[in-house]
Amino acid sequence: MEAVLGLLVISAGVSHGLETSCDAREDGSQCYGALGGAVYLQLVTDATRYDELSFWKGSTGAKTEIMKTKNDKWVIKYTPIEDRVHFFINNGTFRLNNTRRNDSGEYLLQEFNSAGVAQGSRGLQLFIEAPVSSPQLSSVCLSHGEMRVSCSSEGDGPQYSWTLNGQTLNDTDAPPYNMTNTITLKKDLSGDLTCIVRNNINRNTVSRRISHCPGSGFNVFVYFQLAEVFILLTICLGSYLFYKKKTCPQEQDDGELAVFAVSQVDHGGTLRGVLM
Ligand SMILES: *[C@@H]1O[C@H](CO)[C@@H](O)[C@H](O)[C@H]1NC(C)=O
Ligand SMILES: *[C@@H]1O[C@H](CO)[C@@H](O)[C@H](O)[C@H]1NC(C)=O
Ligand SMILES: *[C@@H]1O[C@H](CO)[C@@H](O)[C@H](O)[C@H]1NC(C)=O
Repeated sequence: MEAVLGLLVISAGVSHGLETSCDAREDGSQCYGALGGAVYLQLVTDATRYDELSFWKGSTGAKTEIMKTKNDKWVIKYTPIEDRVHFFINNGTFRLNNTRRNDSGEYLLQEFNSAGVAQGSRGLQLFIEAPVSSPQLSSVCLSHGEMRVSCSSEGDGPQYSWTLNGQTLNDTDAPPYNMTNTITLKKDLSGDLTCIVRNNINRNTVSRRISHCPGSGFNVFVYFQLAEVFILLTICLGSYLFYKKKTCPQEQDDGELAVFAVSQVDHGGTLRGVLM
């Protein structure tokens, strides 16, 4: 029951979506809205001060009138979006709910005087984009004690940046550091690593305490591998000599295979342990 309730709350949260607002009173404003959320576009300071306003989707070529105001009344002219729009006439703010990608594009506001003569117009550009989700971090240790960390997030045009212990990562910590979603940290670095992901809509972060990879661990690793090979060779040689005496090729194969399999499992287990 609790699980079902949790799911319902989440889906309500998703369908509600993010809200963004934009001051579009200047000609040529660029406004961003979260996909599935609501966008507030302030078109004028007070729409009741105008005799007539007309709001269009599209540029000069193919345009559709979507709303009209006359003194203190407003009406939606384009019915497909009727149930998603509200206009706050007192502060000239146009709200569009449940935005879709095809709400993106150019919009135009025209003013008319009481005689219906055009007084001026201003354009705005609306971009509907998917917000960035909470990022996920994953890391692996590389051979020289370096650590490769990846940060991944869903959304349109994510931009990544990183901090270690509150300091922006630089080229010395993670060369070549170029604000990608995957970085390679130099050895012996530790502390709180944060990945910041942002786009035109929102921003999210994820942090994790990292401890340095087995740095001198490179040598330990190599010694370990050498020892393993040595043991393997000894066993092989031993069993070869042993079975050569007995001259039984079938059993010889089985014996070597078994040793090899055990060694592989060991190796895999060690790798997992080191890579956390
Ligand atoms: C739009 O969303 C708001 C708040 O999320 C809601 O109050 C309103 O009823 C919705 N519909 C319209 C047409 O504004
Ligand atoms: C306009 O008014 C509405 C309703 O009172 C409010 O939600 C919105 O934030 C206002 N917008 C601006 C830009 O003042
Ligand atoms: C916009 O996209 C929605 C679905 O996301 C679709 O139902 C609608 O017909 C599209 N409108 C136009 C004008 O293409």
